[in-house]
Amino acid sequence: MSNSIVTTDQTKNQKTLVIDRPQQGVTLRGNVKIPGDKSISHRALMFGAIARGETRIQGLLLGEDPRSTAHCLRAMGANISELNSQEVIVEGVGLGYLQEPTEVLDAGNSGTTVRLMLGLLASHADRFFAISGDESLRSRPMSRVVQPLLQMGAQIWGRQNNSRAPLAIQGQSLKGIEYCSPIASAQVKSCVLLAGLMAQGNTTVVEPAISRDHSERMLAAFGANVTTDPETKSVTIAGQPTLQGQTVIVPGDISSAAFWLVAALIIPDSELVIENVGINPTRTGILDALQRMEADISIEKKEIVAGEPVANLRVRSCQLKGAEIGGNLIPRLIDEIPILAVAAVFAKGKTLIRDAEELRVKESDRIAVMASQLTKMGAVVTEHPDGLEIQGEGTLTGTDIEAHNDHRIAMSFAIAALNAKGKTTIHGAQAVDISYPDFTETLQDICQ
Ligand code: S3P
Repeated sequence: MSNSIVTTDQTKNQKTLVIDRPQQGVTLRGNVKIPGDKSISHRALMFGAIARGETRIQGLLLGEDPRSTAHCLRAMGANISELNSQEVIVEGVGLGYLQEPTEVLDAGNSGTTVRLMLGLLASHADRFFAISGDESLRSRPMSRVVQPLLQMGAQIWGRQNNSRAPLAIQGQSLKGIEYCSPIASAQVKSCVLLAGLMAQGNTTVVEPAISRDHSERMLAAFGANVTTDPETKSVTIAGQPTLQGQTVIVPGDISSAAFWLVAALIIPDSELVIENVGINPTRTGILDALQRMEADISIEKKEIVAGEPVANLRVRSCQLKGAEIGGNLIPRLIDEIPILAVAAVFAKGKTLIRDAEELRVKESDRIAVMASQLTKMGAVVTEHPDGLEIQGEGTLTGTDIEAHNDHRIAMSFAIAALNAKGKTTIHGAQAVDISYPDFTETLQDICQ
C-alpha cells in the first residue's frame, strides 16, 4: 500500500490519524495477527499476583490497560517481569498478601483494573488502599461494584456518594453473599467473585444475562472451587482456596479482530484470515450479529488452548443486510457495537441496535459519539436512549472526527474512513494504544 493513505501526527499527548483514501479505493488482503485478549491479560496478571508460586503469561496484550494493572500490582508487592508478548513471569504473593501501597493506585483508563481490583482490595484486612484513574475513568459509575462489596462488609469511600473514583478502601474480613446483579457485567461479577475468594463461605453472583466468563475459567484453573449454572445464570465461588500459579496462554482478542472482520466485509474484493482469535462463546456475539447480517465468515482450525477456544477467522467482502441486534446478544458483543454500527452503514436496509444503554458509560458515551460522528460523515443515524438506528446502503465522506479519547471509537472510524470518500482526520487517536498499539501498522500492512 502507498504509505500516504495512513499518516499519523503526534504532538505531546495528542495523536491524529489521517486516512486519505485514494479515489479508486483500497482492498484488504492477507493474514492478520491480532494482539492478546485484554480481559484475559488483566486476569492473568491479577490472578498470578495473588496465587502462590510462579505464573507464566504468553501472549499478554501490551496495551496501556494491562500496563495499568501490572503497575498497580507491582505497587502492592507483586514481582512482575518486564511486560512482553513472549513470556511474562509473575511471582505471586499468595492469597491475602498484597501489601498496602505507599501511593494512590493509578488504574489509568481501565475500568477492568479498578473494578476487579476493588474486589481484591476490599478483602485485605488491616490495609488501606486508594485508587483512581484518568478523567474518563473518574467519570464512570462505581456503585455497581461498591454496593455488593458493602453488602459483604467492605468499607469503601468515594466521590459522589461512593459512586466515582478516587476511591478509598479500608480492607476488612468479608462474608460471602448471594448477589443478584441488575446488569450483565463481567466486571461486576468478577469483582464480587474476587472479593468472595477471601470471604467466609460461598459467594454467588446471579446475572440477568451471561457476561464473559474468563474469570470463572481462569480462577478454576488456578485451583478455586467455582461452579456455574447456565440455567440460573449464576456462578458460585467457595471462599479461601489455595491458588497456585499457572501457565496462561492468552488468545487473540476478538474485540480487536472485529475491526478487521468489518473492514474486510465492507471493502469490496477483500479477503483476510485473522489468526488465533479467542472464540469463547461469551464473546462471540459479534460473529452471531454479523451472521444475522449475512456476512461471509468461516471459522477454521478451531482448538482449545489453555482452557479457551481459539480459531482462525476467514472473512470475505459481501453485501451485508440490516438486522435487529438486542437482548442477550448485547453482553456478548458490548465492546464491538461501535464497529458494528460502521458495518450497518453499508448494509442493505435498516439496522436497529437496542438494549445497549451500557454503552453510555464506557470509555465515552459510545451511543452519542457514534451517532454524532457517523452523521458528520454523512450516515443516516438516529440515537435512541438504549442504542442506534442506522439506515443502510449509505456512503460516507471523510471529515474531521473526534474520538473522545476512546480507543474503540478511534479504530471504528479508521475502518469507516477506509471506505469513505476523501480524507478523514481522527483526533484523539492516541487512545488506540489502550488496547491495540500495532493497529496502524497492521492497517498499513493489509491495505493494497
Ligand atoms: C470487561 C467487561 C466488559 C467490557 C470491558 C472488559 C472485562 O465490561 O466492556 O471492556 O474484562 O471484564 P462490563 O462487564 O462492565 O460490561
